[in-house]
Amino acid sequence: MIVSASPENTGTQAPSAMASSTPYGTLPPASPMGTRRPISLPRLLEMHTRGEKITMLTAYDATFAAVADAAGVECILIGDSLGMVCQGLHSTVGVSLEDMRYHTESVARGIRRSQGTAWVIADLPFGTYQESKEQAFRSAAVLMQAGAHMIKLEGGGWTTEVVHFLVQRGIPVCAHLGLTPQTVHALGGYRVQGKSDASAELLKTEAHALQDAGASMLVLEMVPAQLSAELTQSLTRCATIGIGAGKDTAGQVLVLHDMLGVNLGKMPKFVRNFMADSLSIRGAMEAYVAAVKDGSFPVNAVHAW
Ligand code: KIV
Repeated sequence: MIVSASPENTGTQAPSAMASSTPYGTLPPASPMGTRRPISLPRLLEMHTRGEKITMLTAYDATFAAVADAAGVECILIGDSLGMVCQGLHSTVGVSLEDMRYHTESVARGIRRSQGTAWVIADLPFGTYQESKEQAFRSAAVLMQAGAHMIKLEGGGWTTEVVHFLVQRGIPVCAHLGLTPQTVHALGGYRVQGKSDASAELLKTEAHALQDAGASMLVLEMVPAQLSAELTQSLTRCATIGIGAGKDTAGQVLVLHDMLGVNLGKMPKFVRNFMADSLSIRGAMEAYVAAVKDGSFPVNAVHAW
């Protein structure tokens, strides 16, 4: 079914009652009602337990989110990478809560209107959760009210208390360790984290503390493949999602523009351009889903450390 944004659509009709055309394009048809179950947190954790790979892509607007959902991507992340890919910034540090609210609303609307099933995760941007757990709750509430199902925040140690506070108040949390782009200046650049024994031990300690605090997903960015494989095995209540972290995480995430080969800078080593062998963007997304599911992406020798 195709959903319309035509003038006679008042926004009060159920999607199924809407006309099928719009002057500005249509959202992709979802699978027939009833053939796809909405993705939920228990379902994602059950996939982790069963060893079925979880797929995640970033999206920042309604149409790309709906296409990714229709292509079978289970989790859509409104990443603060939108600062770079949408706003032309040099880092994610300049992204505001209002930017995140706007893009989260757009993504959630696109998925809803195409009757999609994806789990929607929104990044808490820099400066909106570091001050206090109360500040974090207020910021998270803005993104949840914009349509997110889960929020993501970066860092370990001090974030454990924040994660506990949010989870206790009904906000599912995805943590993010390894290369944390919001602190890129403190880290000294975009480099692999957890290479030394001491930093690997710290990362393990922080990851387990985040799981104990209630984080149910954990993005591992630019972490040695061996370390993320060990973490994935030991974190039974928290699904690891890798980006530059090797093939043995519970799932994978890529920035949408990177996997479509649209990148203004240098393509990171952990990216594969799925558009290169596809005839359409949806085809590229489907190829990504298939490759993550069957374990052919990423390849440790090519995309990891
Ligand atoms: O902002 C983002 O897109 C992210 C992913 C790279 C995980 O955090």
